[in-house]
Amino acid sequence: MNRRPSVVILCPQEFKFTDHEATVERPFLRDVADLKTVWLGYNAPFPDEVLDADALILWHGPQVTEQVVARMKNCRAIIRNGVGFDSVDIAAAARAGIPVCNVPDYGTEEVADHAMALTLALYRQLFPLDAEAKQLGWKINVAAKMRRLRGQTFGIVGLGRIGTAAALRAKAFGFRVVFHDPYVPVGTHKAVGVERMASLEELLRTADTVSIHCPLNDETRGMIGAPQVAQMKRGSFLVNTARGDVVQKQPVFEALRSGHLGGAGLDVVEAEPLRTAEEAATPNLIVTCHAAFCSPEGMVEMRSTSASIARAAVLGQPVWNRVN
Ligand code: NAI
Repeated sequence: MNRRPSVVILCPQEFKFTDHEATVERPFLRDVADLKTVWLGYNAPFPDEVLDADALILWHGPQVTEQVVARMKNCRAIIRNGVGFDSVDIAAAARAGIPVCNVPDYGTEEVADHAMALTLALYRQLFPLDAEAKQLGWKINVAAKMRRLRGQTFGIVGLGRIGTAAALRAKAFGFRVVFHDPYVPVGTHKAVGVERMASLEELLRTADTVSIHCPLNDETRGMIGAPQVAQMKRGSFLVNTARGDVVQKQPVFEALRSGHLGGAGLDVVEAEPLRTAEEAATPNLIVTCHAAFCSPEGMVEMRSTSASIARAAVLGQPVWNRVN
């Protein structure tokens, strides 16, 4: 007798971004597979219903190791609901003939919007003004710091999906936009209408705002340290919505205290979260809790993409967003 395919959505315990009914995924899968959501405790072994699945949609947390892959006899795709896929042994999956896919673009607009929100808050001194107004004061103590955007230089490190989306937004605000990215093709500056800097140092010395949009890897870990902060213009802003460990927080916090940097807007922080009240009290620092990707629309898009890839997998059709 033919077995009906099964798709399992695997979540860490107490996970809040999904629902028991799988309301987003079900319409994509109901006619082709049984669908089940399984909540798994930290380090708990994978139950048979997960190991037997024809496609596995994986929220962050559960680790698909080589040993787990070896026991997945029916699986035709492992789909990471999200960008990062370090929770899956993709080489082991490739050896077993299982494609691993991700959803790299569900938050592109949100993160670019967030980078601009942090930038605008710094230029227009949103939070000092908000604090003043809520103390029932009505003085513009920060008037001298409230800068016009047009003519300022917005420097992008990493002109990929999010970096390009941020570039287009910054241009619309009247910024001169420059970027450093050694890996994008010659002529990208013409296509996007921005200026290419020959080196990170040239970008840091040129930009009034430096916005980080490169991935975290061996090359970029700690890439913005004390020497790089020193190269930034006095009074300039640093915005990081990429990964905390790209930027060393100590030199940045010191530069904010000394006034060398005029402000920083960080959605991500080295060794998240902030550790001390002193760090939190750093002047001209705006921090958000690694939340730049968040929006209900983005979540629906991510879950829909994963479910459509799972559908293709159980139907034996080609999958996309493959990373192995
Ligand atoms: P992407 O892969 O499209 O773009 C990354 C760009 O960085 C590429 O153009 C690449 O050539 C460039 N790059 C690599 N090494 C570089 C270096 N050493 N110097 C300068 N540029 C370099 O990635 P996407 O989608 O734009 O995402 C960028 C990063 O944003 C992700 O890697 C992730 O860490 C972060 N992110 C943060 C989120 C948040 O909620 N805060 C959500 C989603 C992504």
